[in-house]
Amino acid sequence: MATSSSSSLSSASSSAAAVSVVPRPARVVPGAGAFVLTAATGVTHPPELAAEAAWLRGALGPATGCLLAPGPGITLLLDPDALPAEGYRLEITTSAVELRGGSAAGVFAGLQTLRQLLPADAFRRARVRTAEWSLPVCVIEDEPAFGWRGVMLDVARHFLPKQDVLRFVDLMAVHRLNVLHLHLTDDQGWRIEVPGWPRLTSVGAWRTGSMRGSRQHETFDERPHGGYYTGDDLREIVAYAADRHITVVPEIDLPAHVQAAVAAYPSLGAVPVEGVRTRWGGLSDGVLAPTEEALGFCRDVLAEVCTIFPSRYVCVGGDEVPTGPWERMGHPDPGSLGGWFVAELAGMLAAHGRVLFGWDEVLAGGAAVPSDALIGGWRGEHGTIAAARAGFDVVACPDTSVYLDYRQGEGADEPIPVGPLLTLADVYAFRPVPSALSAEDGARVLGGQAQIWTEHMDSVRRIDYMAFPRLCAFAEAVWSGAGSGPSSEPESGPGSESGSGSGDFADFVARLTSGHLARLDALGVEYRPLHGPHPWQTRPDAAGWPRERADREAELLELTRDIRGAVGVDGGE
Ligand code: ACM
Repeated sequence: MATSSSSSLSSASSSAAAVSVVPRPARVVPGAGAFVLTAATGVTHPPELAAEAAWLRGALGPATGCLLAPGPGITLLLDPDALPAEGYRLEITTSAVELRGGSAAGVFAGLQTLRQLLPADAFRRARVRTAEWSLPVCVIEDEPAFGWRGVMLDVARHFLPKQDVLRFVDLMAVHRLNVLHLHLTDDQGWRIEVPGWPRLTSVGAWRTGSMRGSRQHETFDERPHGGYYTGDDLREIVAYAADRHITVVPEIDLPAHVQAAVAAYPSLGAVPVEGVRTRWGGLSDGVLAPTEEALGFCRDVLAEVCTIFPSRYVCVGGDEVPTGPWERMGHPDPGSLGGWFVAELAGMLAAHGRVLFGWDEVLAGGAAVPSDALIGGWRGEHGTIAAARAGFDVVACPDTSVYLDYRQGEGADEPIPVGPLLTLADVYAFRPVPSALSAEDGARVLGGQAQIWTEHMDSVRRIDYMAFPRLCAFAEAVWSGAGSGPSSEPESGPGSESGSGSGDFADFVARLTSGHLARLDALGVEYRPLHGPHPWQTRPDAAGWPRERADREAELLELTRDIRGAVGVDGGE
């Protein structure tokens, strides 16, 4: 899926820096002068691009006062013969703007670049000034390095109200990200209404309190927490995302991570649980019993999921499945049940014409995993390597590179610092295709996915802090294939603070500080300043658990023996 290079324009990252676009376009040729957007500027487009033109009017009209009525000025065109599907070519002269896309998605990606070429106030929701809205004369040719540019949002550990999810979709679109993986259920909360199973939301969507800080400290608040989405809320999110060329991939985490569901319907569980879980980490006893009743539950839930979400892939989790509860209920072969569930769930999805997405632990189920399954490789690079070598399509989401709940600085004031250090530079250095893979196996890596686990993010403000600007760096890694050029490594190396590197990372930071952070400010994103948190972003009341990267790497090597053994791909990493 690597990007192909066009011969008509040269790659010029310094020119790209001059226009300060994030993620960085593949090729930019700057010119002299500007096209000035005015109340008289119009938009023309073929009927197939009516939605993209409407988006442009909605995004720029209120901020600029230019209503972009039908007429000459900006021309949108489809050009699938000349351009890759998600690619675009944007040509700005002093008298006209022409944007061609290989598809409507390509045109939409080009509109994101067009918006970023305007002053940052174009990202506000209404006018704060009347100065010229100039677009610099230039030609930009661009296409993504990877087709799967995902973000997983955990709305189970802390519920994220619908309006905040819609806002997050807008922020994804700004960064040309195209898959929103919604982690809808977990031990600490069930967030999707399912007909026939009312207690999932009347009981399973609420908990009495939450752990405060990391699990070692055993401290809790006594603040009830909860919330869930109705079917119509989710349909609205799906449609809103689709209008922005973003696919929503739902996740129902099975057969473990179901304490909230078992709290609602105790007979579903292998062993009893004590209500909806209030603590983080470790493995909960909330595991489905291998019964007809539990399978019927899964069938009903997945049927509802398939009516709401049109995505080809449906994630059924499969991660972190303890066999202890099955042993304690006296099952003769508890080690076989993870694979048995995977096979059953894959069959249920196939009946709806859908395909299983599972976390890399499902590979331990061997032949139970259907050959068209998509694997989320999260345990370092091992999951991605094992899945690709075993012939599966895979999305790379290695925790050590893209888990945005991990601490982003070493300072004592970093809020709730958990996991190994994962700085802006570290995320920027993410490469979806592990270097250990052959070209043939590497081609099975569809792209990458950043993960936002929200144990320690109880509101959209904390998500903003943890996600930005690291998500900007991630977007560049998956759109631009950042750093594939000559000076790809941040000079200051893994674990460094930002701002002092050379080459691509320095260029990225320059674009952030010269233009992109101002866009985030205009959008009202409460990102982490590059030098560390504002005082009000610290959490002295909630202690974390910082870990060393080397310790996590050693732990991952041990943990992934299950899949490396099962698929027979050990060695060569
Ligand atoms: C995961 O982080 N348990 C997928």
